[in-house]
Amino acid sequence: MRILITGGAGFIGSEFVRNLLSGDATSQDTPRVTILDKLTYSGNVANLATVAADPRYTFVEGDICDADLVDQLMPGHDVVVHFAAESHVDRSIAGSGPFVVTNVLGTQVLLDAARKHGVGRFVHVSTDEVYGSIETGSWTEDWPLAPNSPYSASKAASDLLALAYHRTHGMDVVVTRCSNNYGHFQFPEKMIPLFVTNLLDGKRVPLYGDGGNIRDWLHVSDHCRGIDLVMRSGRPGEVYHIGGGTEVTNKELTARLLAACGADWGSVDHVEDRKGHDRRYSLSIDKLRDELGYTPRVSFEEGLESTVVWYRENRAWWEPLRQKAAL
Ligand SMILES: NC(=O)c1ccc[n+]([C@@H]2O[C@H](COP(=O)([O-])OP(=O)(O)OC[C@H]3O[C@@H](n4cnc5c(N)ncnc54)[C@H](O)[C@@H]3O)[C@@H](O)[C@H]2O)c1
Repeated sequence: MRILITGGAGFIGSEFVRNLLSGDATSQDTPRVTILDKLTYSGNVANLATVAADPRYTFVEGDICDADLVDQLMPGHDVVVHFAAESHVDRSIAGSGPFVVTNVLGTQVLLDAARKHGVGRFVHVSTDEVYGSIETGSWTEDWPLAPNSPYSASKAASDLLALAYHRTHGMDVVVTRCSNNYGHFQFPEKMIPLFVTNLLDGKRVPLYGDGGNIRDWLHVSDHCRGIDLVMRSGRPGEVYHIGGGTEVTNKELTARLLAACGADWGSVDHVEDRKGHDRRYSLSIDKLRDELGYTPRVSFEEGLESTVVWYRENRAWWEPLRQKAAL
């Protein structure tokens, strides 16, 4: 199997690549991967250092919106797994242009090329944020989309486009929607690595609003296992939720991170709430569990502890990123 992976130098894409290539390189079943990544501020080849010399691995620096490049790269691939995106909600509030370009137009360029070259399967990686916010209960895959941020609106648009290519052109498209991820190699602007790296440096951390927003946290390795299952066995034209981590308020999460880093509430700044801040996300994962036997493996306690340890031990990875991004 030859897989084209977009955004493979980012947080989740690189985990997916490292996992794919962790198996026996000489086995007949072993996949070969091509990474297409623009190396934006959040893309980092250091995330792929452990697989860079693998003969099954090819890295191409480029933009998914570059139709000529994508057209050249696509032939010979059996599957596309599409991670590349502008992914940070706060940045989308500051300016939504790059979100529409990469997340919507970039997805269209990939879909067109995959269709033209008869790629077997297109896996579109998306987010629970496309549903908006839910007070009680959990979303199922047929829930209406009601995104609230420019980020989630651009992801919703790309999901619908991908599904439309299945219905209109009969392409084998599957869409995954996942809850909030955490783990190693996450760019230190997102809540968990931002708080951990601030606290490790003795700095303060910003908590939005009353801290009561609820997120369902899933370890990145569990997300990637879910994508792998859907890539291999999901039904064409279907959406699959990947989640089932732990629902906690941002306040509870802050308390855990303070304790893990040996700090207290004196290090927390209560800042004005994010505009349009969704109150609660919650995914039902019954479909993925019942159809493909999925359950998350990493408990939140264990995953959070190993994540804090990783950031403690890998300053050489995150310090230059923070400096460059002026975080
Ligand atoms: N992080 C989460 O909690 C989460 C949860 C659910 C779904 N997702 C989705 O998973 C995917 C990956 O998210 P992430 O957290 O790894 O993001 P990330 O920001 O860490 O990585 C994005 C990657 O895409 C690349 N990229 C951006 N624009 C590009 C372009 N125009 N052409 C080629 N490459 C480009 C970047 O260089 C980077 O390597 C996204 O589609 C996101 O919507 C993320």
